[in-house]
Amino acid sequence: FFSEKEEKPLAGKRILITAGPTRENIDPVRFLSNRSTGKMGYAIAEQAKEMGAHVTLISGPVSLDPPPNVSVINVESAADMYKEVMKLYPEADAVIKTAAVADYTPKSYHEQKIKKQPGDNAIALKRTVDILGELGSKKDKQILVGFAAETENLDEYALGKLEQKNADMIVANNVTSVGAGFGTDTNIVTLFKRDGSKTELPKMPKAEVAVNILLEVSRMLKKD
Ligand code: CTP
Ligand code: CA
Repeated sequence: FFSEKEEKPLAGKRILITAGPTRENIDPVRFLSNRSTGKMGYAIAEQAKEMGAHVTLISGPVSLDPPPNVSVINVESAADMYKEVMKLYPEADAVIKTAAVADYTPKSYHEQKIKKQPGDNAIALKRTVDILGELGSKKDKQILVGFAAETENLDEYALGKLEQKNADMIVANNVTSVGAGFGTDTNIVTLFKRDGSKTELPKMPKAEVAVNILLEVSRMLKKD
């Protein structure tokens, strides 16, 4: 999209992107996870590189090839992702949290495969750390972008997340719409920003959604 001659919109900026699901191990053969495929986050990483940024992609387990010239850190659990994000946070100009981070993880890991028992059984869970929330509370100069995958009350939930996580922008989508959400090559998103603006984008390829998000990030970085 951008020619070599003109100044690229994210030239020299350090952008940290998280993508994909996390995987919370229960025992050596089982885990808790979600439907995220990483497509949106990988598209953002690829376009951010095109726009001149230094890009680090912290990725949960996905079956995608990483984009060229992007440094990739592979993680599994929410706790691993938190650790890697925090290491790079101080140097980042912007963090884009596309990852579908598990909200719960098993209270304890079983070293041996759990054997089935007669009757019902439950796996005890505990909450994971809210990575974006932590970033928001420790924000220095960074621009923070979060995602909100919803099935109802999109505006209300997205605005709540913008506030609670001290984010600069929330990219919200209704994952039940055709052509939006997990595994598709297109997405239908609404951008909610701290200045109160709301921008509804039409259905478009994830690469184009990525460019729209990154142009907003570039504008917000220039305002600082
Ligand atoms: N997120 C995070 N760490 C978590 C959970 C979520 O960093 N433990 C980030 C996601 O990467 C996303 C944003 O927070 O950018 C919103 O995630 P979402 O699951 O929609 O929101 P939650 O705050 O977890 O609320 P809920 O799942 O209850 O809707
Ligand atoms: Ca969640």
